[in-house]
Amino acid sequence: MRVITTAILGVCLCSTTLLSNSADDIFQQKCSTCHTKTAPQNRADALAPPFSGVVKHVKMRYPDRDRAVAFIVDYVMHPSEEKSVCNKSKLKRFGIMPSQKGAITQHELEIVAKWMFDNFANTNKIAKKGIKMKKPFLIESTQLPHYIGLLKDRWDDKKLDLNDKQKLALKHLEKDTVTSVKQISKKIESLEIKIAHLSNNMTPYQEIMPTVKEVGQLKIEATQIHLRCLEKTRHILTKEQIALLTTKK
Ligand code: HEC
Repeated sequence: MRVITTAILGVCLCSTTLLSNSADDIFQQKCSTCHTKTAPQNRADALAPPFSGVVKHVKMRYPDRDRAVAFIVDYVMHPSEEKSVCNKSKLKRFGIMPSQKGAITQHELEIVAKWMFDNFANTNKIAKKGIKMKKPFLIESTQLPHYIGLLKDRWDDKKLDLNDKQKLALKHLEKDTVTSVKQISKKIESLEIKIAHLSNNMTPYQEIMPTVKEVGQLKIEATQIHLRCLEKTRHILTKEQIALLTTKK
């Protein structure tokens, strides 16, 4: 009886130590000697790229969670220049990561790899940034203004003197335009990730081109919306107001 109790106790203790080994603990014990979670204050002292950057690059190559986790698990045990998804400049600066074989178990590594995927380089954040930073238009000539942005800056400008009727019409136009452009932006964003993924996985370029053309078509649509918005704004505003809008404040 006593033997059995001890055995059960042993199993319990063993499983609690396993449980207490949370991903964060594993990171602290096995990765944090070299890696930080986010970019460190003093980059000069860094021994390895931060996980925020590492996971961003892993996700760019392997957007799928299972494949990304498999990549990390393999890389930590068998790192090599050919497998690396980081920028070549990082490899040059830090050297290839030393294999952690013997320092970490397969089980721990799987826990930490899943945690990395779930907690760093959140794709939503990347997508949000993308919408803000990247404009989806085909034609980006400086000769072709974006009235909506210009109007936002001068909404209550006395010189421009927008009346209430104009403001209402402009608000409607803005809502329509921004909603459609954002939708297009999102579609382009995911198609671009798909294209990068296909290319990085050795898909022949001929097979990728239909997706590229889809992106092209979406950019044409965005420019059509842009042109329509310009036309409508010119109908809402007077010639003088348009002239004011396109000259510097
Ligand atoms: C002794 C220092 C050291 C330790 C410990 C270490 N790493 Fe690294 N790691 C590096 C260096 C240096 C790089 C950058 C060079 C490279 O990518 O091989 C790197 C890069 C990586 C990469 C990017 C691979 C790529 O595509 O280039 C991953 C993923 C990674 N580490 C995961 C881990 C995990 C998970 C742990 C903890 C279990 C860990 N590392 C522990 C030094 C370390």
